[in-house]
Amino acid sequence: MSLELISVTVGFGRTDTRTTVLDGLDVTFEAGRTTALVGPSGSGKSTLLAVAGALLRPDSGQILLDGDDLAVLSDRGRAKVRRERVGYMFQSGNLLSGLPAVEQLLAAAYIGGERPRAHRARAEEALTRVGLGHRLRHRPDQLSGGERQRVALARALFRSPKLLLVDEPTAAVDRSQAGELAALLAERTRQDDCVTVVATHDPAVAEAADRVVDMAELTAAVAGAARSGH
Ligand SMILES: Nc1ncnc2c1ncn2[C@@H]1O[C@H](COP(=O)(O)OP(=O)(O)OP(=O)(O)O)[C@@H](O)[C@H]1O
Ligand SMILES: [Mg+2]
Repeated sequence: MSLELISVTVGFGRTDTRTTVLDGLDVTFEAGRTTALVGPSGSGKSTLLAVAGALLRPDSGQILLDGDDLAVLSDRGRAKVRRERVGYMFQSGNLLSGLPAVEQLLAAAYIGGERPRAHRARAEEALTRVGLGHRLRHRPDQLSGGERQRVALARALFRSPKLLLVDEPTAAVDRSQAGELAALLAERTRQDDCVTVVATHDPAVAEAADRVVDMAELTAAVAGAARSGH
């Protein structure tokens, strides 16, 4: 299992004012490893997560998830990939207000038309595994920032995604919680053997990761290859 981006280009805006954010990017991410994606604001980290997670189609290039090219799938095909193979965890956690923790994990099953009762025990176990066994019925406004982030992590992992994409998970938590969350993310990634890519400005997240990829290096590699005529 791996995620391979080959010669990926993404730009925004109309032709006359177009800005290229990712320019012929090549990078591979492996299963069981957490990669921290670092680089200045605006360098394209979130954009890379969006194309990797089939939320955004690149202008050109291939996105190979376990050998399947996400760039050429139909909208419907990409929706299926997102539903079945990708877990997302974003900066704010994006929890649904008013819903108890365990229901946050089950909400996707409700929307998918499944009977959530069948998943309830598994949802409780998933929350217990991120250290929230004592907070199963707490709503977001009754949880700390770090606890909310852990609910978001449990939810992202709930459907055993092959690919876990995480954007700035520690922006809203204190230093010690950031370190714990980063360690938990790396540990769950090894146990679930998923490909995890986490965009971050947080040194604690980079430190807990198995690998650090700097957007500037990816861009430099492309520029270097272009200069040497490859
Ligand atoms: N939908 C969009 N339309 C136009 N421009 C966009 C769009 N999304 C992103 N951009 C631009 O692409 C560039 C890269 O944005 P991106 O969000 O990927 O950066 P980032 O590395 O995640 O930054 P940060 O560290 O601040 O989160 C930015 O200059 C941004 O303005
Ligand atoms: Mg970003």
